[in-house]
Amino acid sequence: MVVGGISFAGSAVAFAKLQGLVTGTPITYAGQQVVNALLAIAIVALAVANLAIGSQAVFFIPLLLLALVLGVAFVIPIGGADMPVVISLLNAFTGLSVAASGFVLNNFALIVAGTLVGASGTLLTTLMSQAMGRSLANVLFGAFGQVQTAAGGTAVTAEGKSVRSGSPEDVGTMLAYARKVIIVPGYGLAVAQGQHAVKELADELEKRGVEVDYAIHPVAGRMPGHMNVLLAEANVPYEQLKEMDDINGEFQSADVAMVVGANDVVNPAARNTPGSPIYGMPILNVDQAKNIVFMKRSMRPGFAGIDNELLYDPKTIMLFGDAKDSLTKLVGAVKAA
Ligand code: TAP
Repeated sequence: MVVGGISFAGSAVAFAKLQGLVTGTPITYAGQQVVNALLAIAIVALAVANLAIGSQAVFFIPLLLLALVLGVAFVIPIGGADMPVVISLLNAFTGLSVAASGFVLNNFALIVAGTLVGASGTLLTTLMSQAMGRSLANVLFGAFGQVQTAAGGTAVTAEGKSVRSGSPEDVGTMLAYARKVIIVPGYGLAVAQGQHAVKELADELEKRGVEVDYAIHPVAGRMPGHMNVLLAEANVPYEQLKEMDDINGEFQSADVAMVVGANDVVNPAARNTPGSPIYGMPILNVDQAKNIVFMKRSMRPGFAGIDNELLYDPKTIMLFGDAKDSLTKLVGAVKAA
């Protein structure tokens, strides 16, 4: 009842956040973790008292209410793209409560199904946080999305640094005469629904003899496998989707790394800036390519809310605009080159 209550209330808050019914940014206050810990202690104490005295109905209502309050309190400080991790954890919790009901009702099917959901949900949750280079505790108790709040969604400009922006024709010509192009898809490609346009561009380049691969970072996008599913929808051949560890050695030999709506997963601050919220996260070695193209709408940061020095790199060209529009223009530019 306790685990189910926490998952139910937590999921309701997650739903409200994702639907925009309440603010999606973390809600924090002083002493929040102490309050949550006290709630958890009260729940354990009530449960133990209940078992010691022998299931008294009087304990159940406060136990259920406390579990619901803890579910809400547990999810409100989590925000932004940490939500997929917490949703996966809540999913695992529901499995545990189903398995527990199986024991109470002596129902073997519930025990097996609940254990499977609980175990796979736990594995998925751990893999997601590992791929972000953070511990699960940091995701759950670190209020990571606060960094995003601090940036206020406005452009983080690095004073004194200049940015080189190009036209679709400039970039199209560069791509058309390249030997090897690595496409790095990210969250923005999904937002723009540019998967078919990116496939069309890759086909056009391949017709001209350009070697095209896609570099897939494990947390690119907002869900595990987000980019794989997105590109599979556009019939991108599976063998062109290369996992981070397989493709990272190939950036050095790439003429162009084309970053489409990605940001954090290519940000060298993860390697070079201790103290950065993404420090330690493995990244794609886009900085090693001979030329870099960034396709995004503005200089705004990605989910982590931090500036990306690669946008100011002399070998980077910015192609500003919605990813789908820019990709469609690039197809025309490559045909004309
Ligand atoms: P982000 O770092 O979030 O960057 C996405 C970029 O896309 C933004 O900089 C944005 O720039 C651009 N964009 C948005 N809409 C666009 C559009 N219509 N057209 C063109 N560009 C657009 O994405 P990423 O590199 O994929 O990294 C994923 C982030 O999510 C990581 O920080 C990761 O830790 C986090 N995360 C992922 C997961 C999983 S499992 N995937 C789970 C939890 C957290 P503009 O606003 O300038 O356009």
